[in-house]
Amino acid sequence: MKKVIFLVALLAVVSAQSQTLKARIKIDTERKNGSIDSLLYGNFTEHLGRCIYGGIYDPKSSMANMDGFRKDVIDATKKMGVSIVRWPGGNFVSGYHWMDGIGAKEQRPKRKDLAWGDIETNQVGTDEFMQFAKAANVAPYVCVNMGTGTLDEARNWVEYCNAPTGLYYSDLRAKNGHPEPYNVKYWGLGNEVDGEWQMGHMNAEDYSKKALEAAKLMKWSDNSIKLIASGSSNYGSDWMNWNRTVLTSLRDQIDYISLHHYSGNYDKDHYKFMAITSRVDNIIDITKGMIKEVKTRYRVQRPIYIAFDEYNVWYRAHGEQKLEEHYNMQDALVVAMYLNCFIRHADIVKMANLAQLVNVIAPMMITNDKLWMQTTYYPLQLFSENCHGESLQPFVECDTYDAGDFKQVPYLDVSSVYNEKTKELLINVVNRHKDKAIETNIANQFGQLGTKAVVYEVNSSDINDENTVNEQKVKTTEKEININGAGFVYNFPAHSFTMLKIKMK
Ligand code: AHR
Repeated sequence: MKKVIFLVALLAVVSAQSQTLKARIKIDTERKNGSIDSLLYGNFTEHLGRCIYGGIYDPKSSMANMDGFRKDVIDATKKMGVSIVRWPGGNFVSGYHWMDGIGAKEQRPKRKDLAWGDIETNQVGTDEFMQFAKAANVAPYVCVNMGTGTLDEARNWVEYCNAPTGLYYSDLRAKNGHPEPYNVKYWGLGNEVDGEWQMGHMNAEDYSKKALEAAKLMKWSDNSIKLIASGSSNYGSDWMNWNRTVLTSLRDQIDYISLHHYSGNYDKDHYKFMAITSRVDNIIDITKGMIKEVKTRYRVQRPIYIAFDEYNVWYRAHGEQKLEEHYNMQDALVVAMYLNCFIRHADIVKMANLAQLVNVIAPMMITNDKLWMQTTYYPLQLFSENCHGESLQPFVECDTYDAGDFKQVPYLDVSSVYNEKTKELLINVVNRHKDKAIETNIANQFGQLGTKAVVYEVNSSDINDENTVNEQKVKTTEKEININGAGFVYNFPAHSFTMLKIKMK
């Protein structure tokens, strides 16, 4: 008798496992949710580990250009479609004095960086970073030192970068070989000042006072610049108060408030890890509400947006000095879901910067002087190449799951984009399910789909698969399928990221 009960139970489990999951997605190209800013495809380079030295810059490498920057990193940055790069930190910037990094290289001081414990040689400073930005065709985004730095340092840096010659600091720039202004448009007012780990950590009121004065002086030096306030970077009980205070105090000066978020599979629980971006959705929604509240209360007419200027998976290399995280298939899905979040919130998130570009928690690595791509490179590349235009609001119906604090998490994480210029519709789908494909009915509600779809897929047989210098197990595959103009069925494979690209008629 016991045997029979066991067999029946076993059959029930097997049949539940083999049941196909079904879902529905409805797309309406008229349901728009804001235009996608190309600054969503930004990145970040910090003086940390092998990101700057031994990463973007390595004069001794066989790959170095005349200025000492690696040509392969520059090419890969372009291929990945990076639009803007934040620099020089990160935690590093809170102890950085930019004047250390200009003038004759052999006379620049060596200093101990208290953020990461390295010796900073100052061989890459403002003029070199601008060379890199130009070569890689990215907009420079400079973050000022709101930790140990002064108001004068902040405004003088703007003058050095942006003023025409004729003033002390712009003449200094010319003397250093760069008479033309760099016209740096994006300036950050410090980094993660809400965190106790930060040099010069402050409470929200003290930060707001200092940042407000810095903002005034920086804008008086060049009123065309855009300012990004340091928003929340850790999500304990106080983050909302931080953001509200900063927004309230700086509302007439800032153009963006920054948010930072890192994820990790700390509990080795696939489903909990896959749910993390529902927290990111929530943080964005709450901050968007606060922006609206502050703007309404104080009748602010100018837009204030969110710059999500640090995000990534980062947990294995936590507490390790070089932060050289090796990514797997699962991590590539999380990065794709961050990008889905930003697209879904394209009305308010107008900049996002993956932390970081090379070697340090990065989509590209250098091993023995050879550049190779981590798993996370592939979703980043696909989004930046294809997702431009208007963000849409897709209707999604699918099974859900609970994991830890996360309840009713849909197995499918979806965003969608319509590009009016190219008439291309993009549907970006992460199937969070570890083992099952999800058969999805995709219905189009406005206009006619073409008869073909290009399918890009990032996947691998095992979610733990990683890439190495010798093997790219995880990468993008591409195929074309025939579809019906009104709608079609697509089977999203287990633990995959799929981008469907369809030309509208
Ligand atoms: O990107 C690594 C570090 O993470 C940055 O320096 C800091 O801003 C964040 O805590």
